[in-house]
Amino acid sequence: MSEGRTTAAAITAKAVASFEDCGDPRLRELMQALVSHLHAFAAEVELGEDEWRSLIDALTATGRITDERRQEFILWSDVLGLSMLVDALVRPPDGATESTVLGPFYMPGAPLRAYGESMAEEPAGTPAWVHGRVLSNRGEPIAGAELDVWQNGADRMYAVQRPEAPEDHLRGRYRTLDDGSFAFVAVRPVPYPIPHDGPVGQMLAATGRHPWRPAHLHLIVRADGFRSVVTHIFDSASEYLDSDAVFAVKPSLVRSFVERSADDPERPPGIEGPWASLELELVLTPGADTGNVLDPGRTA
Ligand code: BEZ
Ligand code: FE
Repeated sequence: MSEGRTTAAAITAKAVASFEDCGDPRLRELMQALVSHLHAFAAEVELGEDEWRSLIDALTATGRITDERRQEFILWSDVLGLSMLVDALVRPPDGATESTVLGPFYMPGAPLRAYGESMAEEPAGTPAWVHGRVLSNRGEPIAGAELDVWQNGADRMYAVQRPEAPEDHLRGRYRTLDDGSFAFVAVRPVPYPIPHDGPVGQMLAATGRHPWRPAHLHLIVRADGFRSVVTHIFDSASEYLDSDAVFAVKPSLVRSFVERSADDPERPPGIEGPWASLELELVLTPGADTGNVLDPGRTA
C-alpha cells in the first residue's frame, strides 16, 4: 500500500467499489448511486461534523416518533418532494385522472355506502354534493367502479386523528351505476397543516416553510381491468394551492365547487342549509394493477 494522505475522492471510490460483488444488479446500481450522490452532496456543501450530527439526530427522532399510526419517514419523503417525484417517474401521464400522494390518513375498510349517501356521521361543515361519472380513456362509462373517499372536516381533522369520532366519519366507498355515474355527500374541505410536532415540523420551522395543505378530498378510484388511481380533488378557492407543503397539487386536479343557497331547487334530499356542488369526471386506463403500493386498500 502506498503512503500519503487519503483523499475524499479515494474514500468515495472505495465505498462505491464495496458493492461491486453484489449479486443483485439492481441493488448494486441503487447502492452505488446512493453512495456516489450522498458523497457528492457532502463534498459539495462541505458537510461539517456538527451538521452530520444534526442529520443523525433528525433520523433518530424520526425513528422514535414513527409507529403503526405515525410514519415520519414518509412525511420526510412528502415534504422533500420525493413522493411526488417517484409518482411522476412511475406514472407518466396516460390519459387517466392524474395521481397524487396517498397521505397518512387513509384507512382501508371504509363502509360501502349507497348512491347519494352522506359520509358525514356527524355535522362536519358545509355539505357538498359530489357527483359525476367514471369513464375509460375511450369515453366509455365504467359500471361498478369503486370510489374510496376520505377527507377532513371543517375542524381540519380527519376522523383517525380524533379518537372520539365515529370510526367511519368522513369516509366511504361508493360504486358507480350502470351508466358510470356516482354521487355522494361530502363536506366542503378546508386547508389543514400536516403533522408538524416532530422532526419534519422542526425542519419546516427552521427553514421558514409552512406546514399547510390546500383544501382537498382524497379518492382512490378502482375498477376491474383498469389501473387504480390514488388522487385528490383540490378546491380552486382554497389558500395554499401554490405552496402545498407536500407538492401534491396538479392543475388538472383543481376544481371549482359551486356555492348553493338553502332554497336552491336542485338541493338533493337530506341536505339542509347552504350547500355546495361539485361535478367530476374521473378517467381510468385499462391495465393490471398488481403492486400498486400506493393503494393498500385494493383487495383484488
Ligand atoms: C394528506 O393529504 O392527508 C397528507 C398528505 C401528505 C402528508 C400529510 C398529509
Ligand atoms: Fe389530506
